Amino acid sequence: MAILKIAELGNPVLRKRAAEVDSHDISSPQMQSLIDDMIETMHEYEGAGLAAPQVHCSQRVVVFESQDNPRYPAASDIPLTVAINPEIEVLTSDLEGMWEGCLSVPGLRAYVERPGRIRFSALDRRGERFEQELEGFSAVVTQHECDHLDGLLFIDRIECKEKLAFLPEYRKYHLDS
Ligand code: NI
Repeated sequence: MAILKIAELGNPVLRKRAAEVDSHDISSPQMQSLIDDMIETMHEYEGAGLAAPQVHCSQRVVVFESQDNPRYPAASDIPLTVAINPEIEVLTSDLEGMWEGCLSVPGLRAYVERPGRIRFSALDRRGERFEQELEGFSAVVTQHECDHLDGLLFIDRIECKEKLAFLPEYRKYHLDS
């Protein structure tokens, strides 16, 4: 396993639409080690999720997990999930607002609103399809990670530019908002 280098804001790989994974390639040693490395990299940098373009691999693979994450102390737990070729169906027009951050946009937080309930479907690392209904924090994280596969970053979704802050200022002035 290896800790991978994170692509940061300005790197074109973050702005490309990532390619679908051929289901026959999921069991390959290359794909399995990419998944292992993404999980290790997410843990190392305390991300709640990571998308393959963030590690310079333009394929539709995301991982996410949240358990006692110091970067998101108020967040609810999310079990470790590996999702390949994920699809999202929005189930509500009600929006969930959260101060989001991203390992590819270090040092910033911004308040972003997204649909609060989604149906999420993808292939797991064995190539088997699964489907989940998600709400709250896990719905937000899933949408943030899947946005990466379409070349979108959370800063593209900022509606109110006054709610964009450096991390220390976020902690000082916005933690309760
Ligand atoms: Ni991100």
